[in-house]
Amino acid sequence: MKKVVGATVVAGFVVVMSLMTSCKKSSTSTTMTLYDSLGGTTMVTDPINTSAKIEKGRLAIRSVLDSTIFVIAGDTAINGFFTVLLSEVTSGNTSGYEALSKNLTDFVCVATGAKNFTYGGKSMVAAHDPSQNSRMNGKADSHDFDVFVADLVIGAKKNGVSDQLIGQVGALVNTLRSQVVQK
Ligand code: HEM
Repeated sequence: MKKVVGATVVAGFVVVMSLMTSCKKSSTSTTMTLYDSLGGTTMVTDPINTSAKIEKGRLAIRSVLDSTIFVIAGDTAINGFFTVLLSEVTSGNTSGYEALSKNLTDFVCVATGAKNFTYGGKSMVAAHDPSQNSRMNGKADSHDFDVFVADLVIGAKKNGVSDQLIGQVGALVNTLRSQVVQK
């Protein structure tokens, strides 16, 4: 009798443990990050370098941000903040643009939940403080921030991002307002 009770307890314990493991497994595999919704880690051919592969999520984010930089470049409401970048590009020097595209992309990849990238640029406060970043021409106020977000939405729509995902990206970006806005 003692043996039967013991065996039942052990069997019960095994069932509980395996249930816990399977619950844990299913909950991790169903938790989608915003990065996953934007395409995730599926490897695709990089359209700007067809011999390379790129994560689909990163490609979506980079495409939106590159489009946004072009929208901002033509937006007289805020392009005055980007005078260093714009004069470089006008004179045919794209090194600053490439660095910005990479840093912005890394930043948003990490912020949306990507695991395979790190952001190596300035903090959001330092990047938007002209005394710590000579490429930032003046301090931005809350209205400038709204214009920036509107340009980001245009960039996202140009790349076919759904309104639902744009809403989620917008909410994420808005959490950074107090660090970026310094006026
Ligand atoms: C939440 C919104 C924003 C995010 C996530 C963001 C992110 C960034 C990042 C990651 C950098 C690069 C920092 C580095 O290279 O170390 C940067 C640079 C910069 N940002 Fe922002 N930014 C935001 C809003 C704004 C706004 C509202 C303005 C102005 C209206 C602005 C103007 C600039 C400028 C002028 C630079 C320097 C560009 C260059 O390197 O030539 N940003 N930002």
